Amino acid sequence: METPFVFGKIATEKNFTDRIEETATLVAHFQSLINTIIISPRRWGKSSLVNKAARLAMEQDERLRVCHIDLFNVRSEEHFYSLLAQRVIAATSTRWEEAVENAKRFFTRLVPKISISADPMNEVSIDFDWDDVKQNPDEVLDLAEKIACEKGLKIVVCVDEFQNISEFTNPGYFQKKLRSHWQQHQHVAYCLYGSKRHMMLEVFTDSSMPFYKFGNLMFLEKIATPHLVAFFHARFADTGKSITDEAAHLIALLADNHPYYAQQLAQLSWLRTQGECTAEVVHEAHEALVEQLSLLFVTVTETLTTQQLCYLKALIAGEKSISSTETMHRYRISSPTSITRSRAALVKNDILDNKAGEVSFQDPIYAYWLKTRYFR
Ligand SMILES: Nc1ncnc2c1ncn2[C@@H]1O[C@H](COP(=O)(O)OP(=O)(O)OP(=O)(O)O)[C@@H](O)[C@H]1O
Ligand SMILES: [Mg+2]
Repeated sequence: METPFVFGKIATEKNFTDRIEETATLVAHFQSLINTIIISPRRWGKSSLVNKAARLAMEQDERLRVCHIDLFNVRSEEHFYSLLAQRVIAATSTRWEEAVENAKRFFTRLVPKISISADPMNEVSIDFDWDDVKQNPDEVLDLAEKIACEKGLKIVVCVDEFQNISEFTNPGYFQKKLRSHWQQHQHVAYCLYGSKRHMMLEVFTDSSMPFYKFGNLMFLEKIATPHLVAFFHARFADTGKSITDEAAHLIALLADNHPYYAQQLAQLSWLRTQGECTAEVVHEAHEALVEQLSLLFVTVTETLTTQQLCYLKALIAGEKSISSTETMHRYRISSPTSITRSRAALVKNDILDNKAGEVSFQDPIYAYWLKTRYFR
């Protein structure tokens, strides 16, 4: 029997829950071509949300095209330009012949190198001579607007892991260039999202940065307990099993409402269930999950400094005023500066999330592992 939960993949249809308001807002933004910036820690559901909104928006508006670019492993301007051109052309062409024709037609100064891969999707890949692009980046940056105007379309360009552009050579100049082109587009909107809160905030909320006030900011939250509970009940019922209310609440609690872990823990509980899933089964599944991840957690922990670990220990114990002399002494923290430094480093490497001064663990299972295994 197919398991009713997914994790590590985009959640769609029955696997997608909640996000009603966010979906409606995003669909409206796409249709009205309003630039949007979405920020949330990793695995909270950005891609799933954007994917759903894009589908709905296109269903409701036949002139709308949404294309997706993921900068996850893009480290150069060059790579960015070829992806942008490729995706825009693919999203606005119905057949590959048309894609090739468009690739030739819409460039006047740049000469695209086109190759068609052998896979069944017939994906067209487009490349340029890097020196030419450096001279004329405008053609690529304005491509979507040009195609939209000529074909009477509206285009939304979604860029995932957008914060990666700050790792390009000369990021300031590149951002200025992007913004100066993109802000003039009348038929194209941009949806830029990423999981490094501190880097995204720097790009979009620092008044000295080119992308300051570029669009509406959306902070994606975790999924609220009532939605998760209803979701677990429904998915268990779909497969002829059931779950007690207590057990459903327990999954939400142990996963700390983290969307990815909620699905993973639900899956492990479901696999252990014959008829009805109880709290006892969920506890077992949770222990198994912690066990499964412990090797990974050991590796992560080995990369931390002693002062960072002291700070994490104080956090886990729920200390409110860590910088008080007494607390610092108790946890062997050397100074208030050490706290600031540890916190900054732990936020930077995605262990902690700092939401307007409120510090929390990004990974609830790691926090549990530290508390019950490592610090005990
Ligand atoms: N609306 C949702 N309903 C149910 N589960 C969800 C939802 N959104 C996300 N999830 C769960 O979280 C997982 C991660 O979702 P997704 O890949 O969309 O997040 P992301 O923020 O884009 O992650 P990453 O930072 O890794 O790119 C999904 O595989 C799914 O298990
Ligand atoms: Mg994603």
